[in-house]
Amino acid sequence: MTPRLGMHTLTAGRGLLFGGDYNPEQWPESVWTEDVELMRAAGVNLVTVGVFSWARLEPEPGARDFGWLDRVLGLLGDAGIAVDLATPTASPPPWLGHRWPETLPVDESGHRLWYGARNQFCPSSPVYRERALALVADLADRYAGHPALALWHVGNEYGQICHCDDSAAAFRAWLQNRYGDLDGLNEAWGTTFWSQRYSDWAEVITPRRAPYLINPTQLLDFRRFSSDALLAHYRAERDLLRARTPDTPVTTNFMGLFKPIDYWSWAPEEDLVSNDHYPDPADPLAPARTALVHDLMRGLGGGRPWMLMEQATAAVNWRPHNLPKPSGQLRLESLQAVARGADGLCYFQWRASRFGAERFHAAMLPHAGPDTRLHADVRAHGAELRRLAPIAGTTVPARVALVHDWASWWALDERGQPSDRLDPTDQLLSYYRPLWERGVAVDVVPPSAELSAYALVVVPNLYLISDADAASLTAYVRAGGVLVVGPYSGVVDPRAHVRTGRFPAPLREVLGASGEEWRPVPEDRPVPCRWSDGAAFAARTWTELVRSDGAEPVAAFTEGEPAGHPAVLRHRSGRGVAWYVATLPEQDALAELTARALADAGVTGVLPDVPPGVEAVRRGPALFLLNHGDDDADVPIPHRAEDLLTGTTAEGRITLAPRAVAVLRPLDTP
Ligand code: GLA
Ligand code: GLA
Repeated sequence: MTPRLGMHTLTAGRGLLFGGDYNPEQWPESVWTEDVELMRAAGVNLVTVGVFSWARLEPEPGARDFGWLDRVLGLLGDAGIAVDLATPTASPPPWLGHRWPETLPVDESGHRLWYGARNQFCPSSPVYRERALALVADLADRYAGHPALALWHVGNEYGQICHCDDSAAAFRAWLQNRYGDLDGLNEAWGTTFWSQRYSDWAEVITPRRAPYLINPTQLLDFRRFSSDALLAHYRAERDLLRARTPDTPVTTNFMGLFKPIDYWSWAPEEDLVSNDHYPDPADPLAPARTALVHDLMRGLGGGRPWMLMEQATAAVNWRPHNLPKPSGQLRLESLQAVARGADGLCYFQWRASRFGAERFHAAMLPHAGPDTRLHADVRAHGAELRRLAPIAGTTVPARVALVHDWASWWALDERGQPSDRLDPTDQLLSYYRPLWERGVAVDVVPPSAELSAYALVVVPNLYLISDADAASLTAYVRAGGVLVVGPYSGVVDPRAHVRTGRFPAPLREVLGASGEEWRPVPEDRPVPCRWSDGAAFAARTWTELVRSDGAEPVAAFTEGEPAGHPAVLRHRSGRGVAWYVATLPEQDALAELTARALADAGVTGVLPDVPPGVEAVRRGPALFLLNHGDDDADVPIPHRAEDLLTGTTAEGRITLAPRAVAVLRPLDTP
């Protein structure tokens, strides 16, 4: 069911959204008129205003200065440019921290973080909450019904962590709600270990810096709490906005696979999902990594269109060495987001700043002005996005689900593990890549997702799993699904207590296999393995001593301690098939394994053959082909089609130059 508000509220009558963060408070008003003219010429139809304007709106405690913002919204509205109006609460003015130092966040060592940058607030501070909400209420009262107002942008990139006394009090309240009483807490945290038993709630603190390894459940609960504390603040702002503007959607900008925030719990609290994403031009895996993040955003929105709130037109300024983008990359990356479900393509930021910490960050309008190659590219991209209006609102059908879970990520991130080299997001990408390379569409889903509609479910790692989620995966296979489970899964329960017995305890029945030892291996000594039908491959970093309890061993370790033991197993269970992978196979072997699991599931890519470097994805009526490679790619296409970007007709095959994109809509499907 489509909710009442969403991307469709914005794209109706506008098509795809194109624009960026607009920070007019950095410029004299004379520049604003030029900005709006240039925006119109570039095809901009939405800008985000006011993200960092708290000090301008409230120059001293309780004062209000909305006049300048009235004029900005007036100019934009008159030009037909919609406004994504931000609540300015990500960066409080110096007066807040100066007069109320308790609003400033404290790190795990007890050091206060000061103003002078941004994000300096404690999510649990009552004073911060009160001041932020008072301003948000006035902002919403003032602009409710304004013709330019199209979307609310709450805060910015939530991720603040705090260990102050207010946070400790809020953490205790959160724990009381979770565990009821101290006995419950002591049991969940396993405080008989190292004499950690709590005898009074007042003793319970956030995991501040301590002499040695901190209680893992305390750490895990603090991560849960920190995500929830920020969510509570977001909700408080959102509720004020909804009460005043019930027809204006509300979002907050996510940051992809961002560790501190459990976006599965956040996304249902928004009217639409938006994300900031900055692929690293120096990262050879960036195209697949980016596709994975885009698929996560689509998953967070339940398959509905989402919005790329921020990307960069060229180099960012926050990496140590900031490579520019090769020509053509700006549109390639933006169209990649469209292909994967984005209906909004926005940038940080419209006009490059002259001062401040981000003055060397690329923008839509560079310091050198409109008469530049970069700005010409921006204009050309704005124009071509208009041709993709038929794509807006359409979906990306997928039969494969890839499972990602924040709690499991947090739990595995803790020190004191057999190895710190099993990174759940690296595993996610490793298992995603072969699917991406074959043009197989993937939905990223939480472990609690309804799985019955998928033919294949891939679980690269679920170190922490609940009984209910393990039962759901088992039932999915029994009912005919194909499941792939990666190593070190099913190890702990939601309290991070080890599930005893042969592992993975809650999944060993469905997998028809079980293990008894985790055996990390030296990085410089990959472990030789062999498929049962002959071909050799190497595995690295991690092995497990596993046996078949009914599964077919399809690959085995061939040397060293685990020689002869299975490395990959396949088990028919009920009407389905479950695979277990007891190591980290090299990427080619993972591709082979993926091919076999896809065959079990009867799933194929959108094209029989996708050349290396080419991304192929179907969205709505169109097949998107994107060449991320450095060479021309020759792609056979299934039917005569119109390229929506150029209006030309293609038939038989199409040649894509490096960084070229085609958006093919079939002309005469059989
Ligand atoms: C030390 C400590 C033990 C235990 C071991 C683990 O020897 O005394 O309590 O922590 O390290 O190796
Ligand atoms: C984030 C922030 C922006 C800006 C950009 C720079 O996305 O939301 O305010 O700092 O990074 O890349």
